[in-house]
Amino acid sequence: MKVLLLHGPNLNLLGTREPEIYGSLTLDDINKKMIALGKELNVEVTCEQSNHEGALIDVLQDARAWADGVVFNPGGYTHTSIALRDAISAIQIPVIEAHLSNVYAREELRHVSMISAVCKGKVVGFGWRSYELGLRGLIDIIKL
Ligand code: DQA
Repeated sequence: MKVLLLHGPNLNLLGTREPEIYGSLTLDDINKKMIALGKELNVEVTCEQSNHEGALIDVLQDARAWADGVVFNPGGYTHTSIALRDAISAIQIPVIEAHLSNVYAREELRHVSMISAVCKGKVVGFGWRSYELGLRGLIDIIKL
């Protein structure tokens, strides 16, 4: 089984970016943990990050050809991007939306997600473990 872990804008700054909200792990720390978890669960986890909406769409479209599913934190594009929503609908592999912070406990602008309705599931508020929970749930969905 192969899974894409995709991170959107500003998540490359994890570790130094508002650590009281997003935690002190770097993106590289999180990716290493997720690749290790994947090995335990017999899943190959491939990690990508981009600050650019179109590049995220390209990665999602490419994933159609090789991935069984995607765990995706679209960062700020969560709240704005109809193009990312359309890409998720188009690729027809299961996508789990994941957020480090509890977006519902934050500013109202973060309460809206353009992508939730086209994702299989969503995890928020568990820090880096949102990705772990998302991966475990995704694997169960793929195996169904
Ligand atoms: C985030 C929440 C978003 O509102 C924010 O723009 C991010 C990170 C999270 O993981 O909590 O960049 O997706």
